[in-house]
Amino acid sequence: MIQREYWGSRLGFILAAAGSAVGLGNIWKFPYVAGANGGGAFLLIYLAMVFTIGLSVMLAEMVIGRMSRKNAIGAFAKLKGGAWPLVGLCGVAAAFIILSFYSVVAGWTVAYMVKSVAGELALADSGALGGMFGDFIANPVSPIFYHALFMALTVFVVLSGVGAGIERASKILMPALFGLLVILIIRAVTLPGAAEGVAFLLQPDFSKVTWNTVSEALSQAFFSLSLGMGAMITYGSYLGKKDNIAGSAGWVTLLDTSVAVMAGLLILPAVFAFGFDPAAGPGLTFITLPAVFAQMPFGSFFAFLFFLLLAIAALTSAVSILEVVVAYFVDDRRIHRKTASIAVGVIIFLLGIPSSLSMGIWGEFTLFGLGFFDLMDAISSKLLLPVGGLFISLFVGWVIWPAAKQDVAGANGVMPFWVDGWGVIVKFVAPAAIAFILLKGLGVF
Ligand code: PFF
Repeated sequence: MIQREYWGSRLGFILAAAGSAVGLGNIWKFPYVAGANGGGAFLLIYLAMVFTIGLSVMLAEMVIGRMSRKNAIGAFAKLKGGAWPLVGLCGVAAAFIILSFYSVVAGWTVAYMVKSVAGELALADSGALGGMFGDFIANPVSPIFYHALFMALTVFVVLSGVGAGIERASKILMPALFGLLVILIIRAVTLPGAAEGVAFLLQPDFSKVTWNTVSEALSQAFFSLSLGMGAMITYGSYLGKKDNIAGSAGWVTLLDTSVAVMAGLLILPAVFAFGFDPAAGPGLTFITLPAVFAQMPFGSFFAFLFFLLLAIAALTSAVSILEVVVAYFVDDRRIHRKTASIAVGVIIFLLGIPSSLSMGIWGEFTLFGLGFFDLMDAISSKLLLPVGGLFISLFVGWVIWPAAKQDVAGANGVMPFWVDGWGVIVKFVAPAAIAFILLKGLGVF
């Protein structure tokens, strides 16, 4: 039997988990979701969610993974059994759905790297950039080609293994991502008129807050922190018994949140400086930023680096999503890692095609008033991830609590001072808050 792998070092694990968390959700999604939901007020609610429910559920997932040393489905089967593995099964289903549309957007970032090298972005003004983006995503062929390319890269990392693939890639890519973000923020906040954008993100206006804002903040927090579908269970399953797991969860949460706020500080000032609408939606990254770069010396070069880093951020996240599914087939179905990675990668690629086409020729086709892409996004981040997070909390809080508590105590067995606080959150606060927000969102009351 093949030995199950471990992370090579604690830093390797933190970077891989942060690589999972930091992705399109932070750089592409967060700024426009914040923009559409009242800026600063959204940010405050988001931060409150992240550091209470988010951090607690992240630790809960890592504990489930480390205690069981199994994939998302196998972990529940090993620790308790009964109907609990269904929680993992929902996670695996969510992984298929999320990666299918995630890879489409990631493909756009790769295409935009090519466009910046070709100088296509530098020549256009902002109106023309908007048109270019609309035409590109509506094209029935080219975005699907880039989606295929991106899935192939993701499959390559995952089939190379936990240490030689995932950990090694994260150790190179994550520091690079961080460095470039800093450079780009300095550029953005020194643009004339940028102060308005900074104020928009940092000054809360509570008159804009509705239940919808709270629900958006919760789903954004789960998506951004990679929670609710077993990604952190899977990554946690490669941890050794001695690692300070709570410290690692704290680091990952902090890194993820900092990158989201930094991306907001990069994009929103640019939006205001160029007179765009902060609620413009998904196009912000692909239209506004190229417009900013076009005004700078060496703009094409900066644009290339920006889209390269967006692609990198997406890659380390996509890898973790694919790993959720692959780990299941490797652990529980005894399928070879290479075979499982390729087969699952192909299926997810096919599932992504309708999402891509819904931006163009299949745009008319809607279900519940949403196009295919938006529907996949809504089902996963508004429903599957929060429901997954709800059951993961309940599982740790009520089913395996004494053992989970022992697991975070560390080698010397001394209980950390926060352990009871964590208990209260996973037992009561997180399940109640998630259930309330979900029911509210479904219009039950
Ligand atoms: N956290 C990633 C992002 O913010 O882009 C997306 C993601 C990765 C969601 C892994 C869920 C997941 F399990």
